[in-house]
Amino acid sequence: MINAKNVYLRPMELADVKIKVKWANDEQVRKTLGFSDYPVSELATEAWLRKSAGNVGRKDFIICLKENDERIGFCGIKNIDLVNLKAESYLAIGEISYWGKGYGLETKQALLEYSFDHLNLNKVYSSHREDSKAMIKINLKLGGQQEGTLREEMRYNGVMTDMVLISVLKADFRKLINPDI
Ligand SMILES: CC(C)(COP(=O)(O)OP(=O)(O)OC[C@H]1O[C@@H](n2cnc3c(N)ncnc32)[C@H](O)[C@@H]1OP(=O)(O)O)[C@@H](O)C(=O)NCCC(=O)NCCS
Repeated sequence: MINAKNVYLRPMELADVKIKVKWANDEQVRKTLGFSDYPVSELATEAWLRKSAGNVGRKDFIICLKENDERIGFCGIKNIDLVNLKAESYLAIGEISYWGKGYGLETKQALLEYSFDHLNLNKVYSSHREDSKAMIKINLKLGGQQEGTLREEMRYNGVMTDMVLISVLKADFRKLINPDI
């Protein structure tokens, strides 16, 4: 279990497939997440999770509220590269009523701490639609920098869409979290 202030992250289990599918098929969540595959089924998601669970190159989590264990979203680290010490992160608060309460920021911080402290990685990157203002802000607040634009990276509802590539380096994150280092 990965601890943050108001939420914790635990490994995604088969019992979470139903709610993950609900979130992944939600238009508002899907739009910013960059999911081109639509609609997703429980069967396909279960097959994906069974395969992912044994893959050492990724970690998939469910985000839960500490106060009542309610599941509010999903996140993870994928493409873990132990040679170049980098990985890609993803994150979605699936319950829209919980947007804008700081849970996204603390989840991303927890993912970075896990990546840098536990996995000993050096860099965590992610890509976002240009209109994903909250996610871009979260990354910049945690020491991230924009590396560039991935042109026409994703097809969403038939339209080719640019994505912003952002990364957080361990040293920059550390300086921000603990300025004395
Ligand atoms: C993007 C997402 C993870 C953000 O999580 P959240 O819990 O809603 O965001 P937070 O409350 O932690 O806010 C983080 C910052 O973004 C700002 N913010 C939130 N929504 C915003 C918006 N629509 N426009 C601009 N800034 C916004 C907040 O004010 C906060 O900044 P502050 O601390 O300076 O006030 C969440 O909205 C979500 O899951 N969306 C759908 C999926 C997605 O977009 N995933 C990311 C792509 S991988």
